[in-house]
Amino acid sequence: MDKIQIDTVLNRIEEATGQHANPRIAAIVHRMVRDLFHMIEDLDIQPEEFWSGLNFLAEAGRSGELGLIAPGLGFDHFLDLRMDEAESQAGIAGGTPRTIEGPLYVAGAPVAQGEARLDDGTGEGEVLVMEGQVKDGAGQPLANAVVEVWHANALGNYSYFDPTQSAFNLRRSIVTDGEGRYRFRSIMPVGYSVPPNGATDRLLKQLDRHGTRPAHIHFFVSAPGHRKLTTQINIDGDPYLWDDFAFATREGLVPPITRVSDAAAMAALGVDKPFASIRFDFTLHADQANAPQAEVARQRASVAA
Ligand code: DHB
Ligand code: FE
Repeated sequence: MDKIQIDTVLNRIEEATGQHANPRIAAIVHRMVRDLFHMIEDLDIQPEEFWSGLNFLAEAGRSGELGLIAPGLGFDHFLDLRMDEAESQAGIAGGTPRTIEGPLYVAGAPVAQGEARLDDGTGEGEVLVMEGQVKDGAGQPLANAVVEVWHANALGNYSYFDPTQSAFNLRRSIVTDGEGRYRFRSIMPVGYSVPPNGATDRLLKQLDRHGTRPAHIHFFVSAPGHRKLTTQINIDGDPYLWDDFAFATREGLVPPITRVSDAAAMAALGVDKPFASIRFDFTLHADQANAPQAEVARQRASVAA
């Protein structure tokens, strides 16, 4: 069809919009339908392809995988880059880089003061101690900041989504002490992979791609008067470090890992093998009225601790 014929039918469809339409939703739907009509024409999409695409999305919805397909296609990272740009336009610079939340946060994790042990002691994995400070843009420590941390186990699985793990295993909210310090003991995570043969996996296979993330630890860091930070650190040396299926690895988020074999330090933790140690500070930006909200409302899993 030529562009004029396509425009004619698009205009007729848009004119069906009533005067009480939600203007924002209408603008988005009109644009989406317009772009998809042109895609169907340009790529000569056949009816069978259209219906199979629709059924694919329906199945991904039923199996709860749309939240996995979005990062896999780069949407989450793109939204991060747009938020970076909005902050830059508002004069916000520096600080700890953000990176994607992912779909596996669970609200309601136990709250600990200053330090916590995240693992329930039943899982395999190298012992990891991570600690640091939460600071403001001037480098001053932020006491009573909240560091929400969550990560996968040594099989790459997250508690709650993996019902074999205890409730809130590898998930805590840690409140910083008077010097802005947080500290936790846990086990080394392994990179998550999308469920085998699920909708995301099958889509990525069609693109000759893998569905694996490098090992990482998620954080929400918040403090009164400051913009909430959503970020992750990556475990240095992971083979997928710069080959993340979700495109979320960023410079500044790959801290060095130290192996501690000092006998007294090992004894203090009750371990008989060297353990991994990571030091990482978070720098938050002060609230700013002319920048978009850093805290993103979205549907999340939630259980009472
Ligand atoms: C996905 C999984 C993660 O652990 C993560 O951090 C981001 C995305 C995913 O399954 O899409
Ligand atoms: Fe993750």
